[in-house]
Amino acid sequence: MNILILGSGGREHAFAWKIKQSPLCEHLYIAPGNAGTAQLGTNLNIAVNDFESIATAALLHQITLVFVGPEAPLVHGIVDYFLNTPCIAHIKVIGPSKAAAQLEGSKAFSKAFMQRHGVPTAAYKEFTAVNFIDGLDYLTKHSLPVVLKADGLAAGKGVLICNSVAEAQAEFELMLKQSKFGEASRKVVVEEFLQGIEMSVFVLTDGKNYVLLPEAKDYKRIGEGDTGLNTGGMGAVSPVPFMNEVLKKNIIQTIVEPTIAGLQIDNLPYKGFIFIGLMVQNNEAIVIEYNCRMGDPETEVVLPRIENDFVEMLLATTNQTLNSTSLHTSSQTVVATVAVSGGYPGHFVKGFAIEAINIENDKNSLLFHAGTLQSDNAVITNGGRVLVSVGFGDNIADAQKKSEAQLSKIHYEGISYRRDIGYEFM
Ligand code: AMP
Ligand code: GLY
Repeated sequence: MNILILGSGGREHAFAWKIKQSPLCEHLYIAPGNAGTAQLGTNLNIAVNDFESIATAALLHQITLVFVGPEAPLVHGIVDYFLNTPCIAHIKVIGPSKAAAQLEGSKAFSKAFMQRHGVPTAAYKEFTAVNFIDGLDYLTKHSLPVVLKADGLAAGKGVLICNSVAEAQAEFELMLKQSKFGEASRKVVVEEFLQGIEMSVFVLTDGKNYVLLPEAKDYKRIGEGDTGLNTGGMGAVSPVPFMNEVLKKNIIQTIVEPTIAGLQIDNLPYKGFIFIGLMVQNNEAIVIEYNCRMGDPETEVVLPRIENDFVEMLLATTNQTLNSTSLHTSSQTVVATVAVSGGYPGHFVKGFAIEAINIENDKNSLLFHAGTLQSDNAVITNGGRVLVSVGFGDNIADAQKKSEAQLSKIHYEGISYRRDIGYEFM
């Protein structure tokens, strides 16, 4: 069958790599893709939110399955668009319905969902311009730090952790009255600050059954030792050393199963991934957030540990037969290090030639492209996050070394990456 992947990051290159290994995949298309995905299939110059052009390309290339990488097309309803457009209704799209994608698209929706279904999460209240004054008053009585969240999608920037009432009130006003995050902050969730260690679990569900994929921990800050500005993600590890059978059982019983049951009770069709961000304390987990897709760079450490035929798993998802899938996971430790453009996550310049890019993958490492572009005979930088170097090992220190060693062979102007991914576990 022919498969179309939507997206252009390291996550999508990793999915292309994994999907291409399946004998079930005949031709692979990626829209818009990057220089790495171009080595595995045909890149199509179509934006992920241009549903009409995606539909036209899907018909032209006789696509059977569409795999959606990023959240925006899902939140904008690509699954419903295919289902409700007769000429493409036969094409299966992996992902939640538009209604279910609100689990990521609206923090207020996801908090209410968790409360309704007894999923543990931080205490919260939601505010709009209508109850703005109540909100200011609520903040004066709230414990510190206090977390403010823009309700809608804000490119990962909509969460603010405030250490004083004055700061919280000022930010609250900017969000609700000055549209700090545009439409996304017309509603604000005010939330209790959670203590603990973060990690993420990933669930593939067909809406009824589910498979729990390997867990991961990502590193969001730009600087070593988790310092400096937040980014899309500078690295990730899998497995997470503090995951154990007791914690896993707790996560399944109190979070994963009530979530899947909640989707059914609320009649929210969902055939795709749920990425659950967790805060863990004393072997118990609390949900920070749901995402309706896989993470980036978490995908780059999770997929290399899955030994199953991935297309078979995706077909089981669309056919609602995931109950017959048993996951085979490698016990290897995987560490991903992201190489970024100089200046990222602030202003950066694109278009620098990447030298020594054609590294052969071997048993120690894999190289995924993120913001790269094929330009004549050169591969050039084309984004903030440029490359994702994945190292394999017996433990985190070993895998990190291999991930870093691979990047040390690559050069472009301004290249920068953390040399401490997984540091707290070494
Ligand atoms: P989110 O966009 O919901 O993933 O939030 C971004 C980051 O903010 C999370 O990965 C956490 O590090 C942090 N965060 C969000 N909510 C909380 C909370 N209630 N307590 C502590 N940290 C939080
Ligand atoms: N690495 C975080 C995310 O994909 O949202």
